[in-house]
Amino acid sequence: MKLNGNTILITGGATGIGFALAQAFVKEGNNVIICGRREQKLKEAKSKLPEIHTRVCDLSKEKEREALYNWVKSNFKDLNILVNNAGIQRMIDFKKGISNLSVGENEIDINLKAPIHLSAYFIPDLLKQKESAIINVSSGLAFVPIAAMPVYCATKAAMHSFSVSIRHQLRDTSIKVFEVIPPTVDTELDKGARDERGQEDKGIPPSEVAKATLKALEKNEYEIEIGMAQYLRMEARNNPEQIFQRINQ
Ligand SMILES: NC(=O)c1ccc[n+]([C@@H]2O[C@H](COP(=O)([O-])OP(=O)(O)OC[C@H]3O[C@@H](n4cnc5c(N)ncnc54)[C@H](OP(=O)(O)O)[C@@H]3O)[C@@H](O)[C@H]2O)c1
Repeated sequence: MKLNGNTILITGGATGIGFALAQAFVKEGNNVIICGRREQKLKEAKSKLPEIHTRVCDLSKEKEREALYNWVKSNFKDLNILVNNAGIQRMIDFKKGISNLSVGENEIDINLKAPIHLSAYFIPDLLKQKESAIINVSSGLAFVPIAAMPVYCATKAAMHSFSVSIRHQLRDTSIKVFEVIPPTVDTELDKGARDERGQEDKGIPPSEVAKATLKALEKNEYEIEIGMAQYLRMEARNNPEQIFQRINQ
């Protein structure tokens, strides 16, 4: 995949991994659009990276996903890369019943439904581009779940499965399907809960994820396992029970 001259939409691109990807893509000479719910975060991102285009959008809402698609389609006709990066992570205790699940944001809508819908919206347009890609950000936890975050891990396992399927469906087209599989990364994601759990490992910087991603894109390596995520996935195959117990101690 060529690394420059692309027009790229990164969901959740104002912070963390999404912003690191935006920085790396801009540096390579790409036209980058980011979206997210918080206008202030988008403004901060734009002040650091004036070349980017921003759009406020809550991807958990069907109407806003459709509006984002229509806006991108009319303003960026040459869009050829969709990065499904936006996500949230929650601790959910099922012993507390439906109230604990229903209070707060819906991980299934944001982490799974939105990328599936955006893919369905954009694929017919991406098919018309000479070279195009969908880049899905899953997680090492797709392969070994942390039981305290059951829905998050389920959405990431589903994103892995979805990536495998659409890669196969699109194998004879111009669209390449990549999956970025990060380890723990030092971002805002679930920061409060991480502190609550007393998790000392803050993870790798988001810039490392961006660097590994661009390197893999250039070589057409479709499953981009980064750092400890590679180990987790290998152990999930070789010693599933042991690795599950270890990360759930
Ligand atoms: N950090 C890690 O350890 C880690 C590890 C593996 C995988 N990942 C994955 O990496 C991706 C990026 O996360 P991150 O770590 O970079 O955390 P982050 O800094 O919190 O980024 C998540 C981004 O998603 C956006 N977002 C959340 N809900 C949204 C919604 N409903 N509509 C639109 N945008 C929304 C957020 O912006 P707004 O809040 O302004 O909307 C934010 O910019 C996620 O898919 C995450 O699961 C992270």
